[in-house]
Amino acid sequence: MPILWRMLIAQLSDTHVDLSRPAKAEALQQAVAHLNQLPLRPDAVIVSGDCAEHGMPEEYALFRQLLTPLPMPVYVIPGNHDQRAELSRAFGPQGTRALDVFIQYVVEYAPLRLIALDTHVPGESGGLLCEQRLSRLQDRLSEASQTPTLIFMHHPPLVTGVQPIDRIGLQGAGAFAEIVRQHPQVRRVVAGHIHMSTVQHFAGTVLMTCSATESASLPDLGQPAKMLVQPQPASCLLHHWTPADELLTYTSVIGQYPLVMQHDGVQWV
Ligand SMILES: [Fe+2]
Repeated sequence: MPILWRMLIAQLSDTHVDLSRPAKAEALQQAVAHLNQLPLRPDAVIVSGDCAEHGMPEEYALFRQLLTPLPMPVYVIPGNHDQRAELSRAFGPQGTRALDVFIQYVVEYAPLRLIALDTHVPGESGGLLCEQRLSRLQDRLSEASQTPTLIFMHHPPLVTGVQPIDRIGLQGAGAFAEIVRQHPQVRRVVAGHIHMSTVQHFAGTVLMTCSATESASLPDLGQPAKMLVQPQPASCLLHHWTPADELLTYTSVIGQYPLVMQHDGVQWV
């Protein structure tokens, strides 16, 4: 693969495609249209889990169909709502260095490297990084210590303080943090699951969560025992890499917006 000196990775999350709730499919359709009308076309799209609501083959068929207008490669990982086997069947092998039964793999996108982590636990809402998944992550990070790396996963290794969210959090987050801390080439850890946009310092790097394509929300932080939320506009993350600026992530609210000139290269207009 040729070295590209600019890289734009778009991230969608928690699409929850559900045959009985057409709004989910419509939201994904809008997200896809949004990515296709960006002035700079993304080189790849990552979907950080909860692709389908029930993990049914028909849902994945619709999910894939809705992604079809995207001309660039799309990479997926499972969330708690997904069924690993069905998602694998729908997408086939992804990336390289895949880990056996898990949907955990590497995408070499010189000069960037993407590592997909699988936090899925069948039948559970919470996530887990077990010893096997963590040791393979350690191996993958050790073999390319100079390559700027973005790790994407479904369950974020964070505590929000909102108790219903934290009850379905990630087990193994401490051990994961220890591994990430040993590898300063990790420029971002990005996740989904909580349907909110957040940023936090994590293990010497930056942890971000991408909101959902539908049912994005902001919790009432004053009532942490409850899950009281204000609905928010759907958004995605745009991870832009250049040699000069390294990795800079933009949050983009999903919608159709005109391109407006505010500076012509010489002056503000
Ligand atoms: Fe989830």
